[in-house]
Amino acid sequence: MTDDRKTEQENRIKRDIREYGGPVLRSGIWNRAMRQTHHNRWTVGSHSMSVCVAALRMSYWLEDKHICYVNHREIVQAALCHDLGIVGRYEKFANNRVCCHQHPLDSAEIARQIYPEISEKTLYTIRCHMWPLCVALPKTREAVIITLADKYVATGEGIPADWLERYQKALNATVLRTTVPARN
Ligand SMILES: [Fe+2]
Ligand SMILES: [Fe+2]
Repeated sequence: MTDDRKTEQENRIKRDIREYGGPVLRSGIWNRAMRQTHHNRWTVGSHSMSVCVAALRMSYWLEDKHICYVNHREIVQAALCHDLGIVGRYEKFANNRVCCHQHPLDSAEIARQIYPEISEKTLYTIRCHMWPLCVALPKTREAVIITLADKYVATGEGIPADWLERYQKALNATVLRTTVPARN
């Protein structure tokens, strides 16, 4: 991607988040989300923002390739709210399994309070984001995008910061061992 394309896409992301994300980003629960650790060294808030950016990038790609149109309002609202039900998890949920099943439902309720006019379709997108760990199936393109973006971001966040470097060193060492004959 050229520098101009990159800047254009970044401006597009900022515009969409500014247009549709204001109510959640100004809410008290977002402040708490920015302080609650998630996926080791991240926070619920930073994770949700990363999911939002990744989901918007996927949406732009689909649109730019003329594959389909994606509802940006739904993407921003669902991405920013999808894990707000995790805030306060250690006081709210008995264990990780309960948290895994319950937080999408709680997130949808929080989203409804933040956005009283939110569509039922967006609430469903939030409720099914943990698929395949929950029974609700992502049935719309926005739901599929949010589910994929969440897995993509969570996988990257779960990898230790120096993993790539260590992996590269280990791989190089293995390749060298197997391809370069030992000197006597
Ligand atoms: Fe989640
Ligand atoms: Fe998430």
